[in-house]
Amino acid sequence: MKKGVGVNVEFETAVQAAQEAGQILLSYFRMEANVRTKGIADLVTDADVAAERCIAARISAVFPGHAILGEEEQSGDTTAEYLWVVDPLDGTTNFAHGLPHFAVSIALLHHGQPQLGVVWNPARGDLYTARLGGGAFHNGRRLRVSSEATMDQSLIGTGFYYDRGAMMEATLGAIGDCFRQNIHGIRRFGTAALDLAHVADGLYGAFFEFQLSPWDFAAGQLLVTEAGGRVTDCTGGELPLRKSTILASNGLLHDQMLSIVSRRVGTW
Ligand code: IPD
Ligand code: CA
Ligand code: CA
Repeated sequence: MKKGVGVNVEFETAVQAAQEAGQILLSYFRMEANVRTKGIADLVTDADVAAERCIAARISAVFPGHAILGEEEQSGDTTAEYLWVVDPLDGTTNFAHGLPHFAVSIALLHHGQPQLGVVWNPARGDLYTARLGGGAFHNGRRLRVSSEATMDQSLIGTGFYYDRGAMMEATLGAIGDCFRQNIHGIRRFGTAALDLAHVADGLYGAFFEFQLSPWDFAAGQLLVTEAGGRVTDCTGGELPLRKSTILASNGLLHDQMLSIVSRRVGTW
């Protein structure tokens, strides 16, 4: 694949797979009868496994030679030339509690570089897409990061990994440091792929989290960079294709945010 071109079939496949998987998620969402018989945890497990199987089947049917890395079952080789990175249900806790803020996230990487990203919130009908060199879009509207250059003009997003120990304390510490810069507020909406879309859309000046996995950020990362923003780990390094800290911003706030989050790295 040449850089930034020729991804139409790939793009259409990603959108269709995300939307089919989204239908599956909706069929499990707020199904109180099922919760009573199966319990929330089993229901969520059924939903994300079924959604990932659907996505993997569609991708494999069109691109049998491509590797797939998914959160649930697909353990594709991360060194493969073409690698699809899939979170079939990002925002599990929201989903389990009936909050319509969750998403399917699908990215295609070529030699480790994101070529396209699709983030689909089926409960709201929000489709975020990006293609390398082709911009980022929300339901067809071009996305641009925000233009604020100082923390005291900014809304900041964050997320907590499932940790309840030192990493959580580090996150709380960084939130306190953000408030000491007089930010407008902190938001924690619970779906990293959509948090990254919020940076791309100029809603958050920046978003940070101290542990995410490639399926959480692969698609959203491209949304941010294609909207004119910057994404690194929390020390300013390139994001690796494994669990990592992450800082995404409009670019203008990046160094100010780095000075807040980088000093926490290594404290957990
Ligand atoms: C989680 C969500 C959440 C983030 C967690 C992720 P999951 O993904 O993206 O916002 O804070 O770190 O693990 O478990 O719902 O797929
Ligand atoms: Ca996730
Ligand atoms: Ca997930």
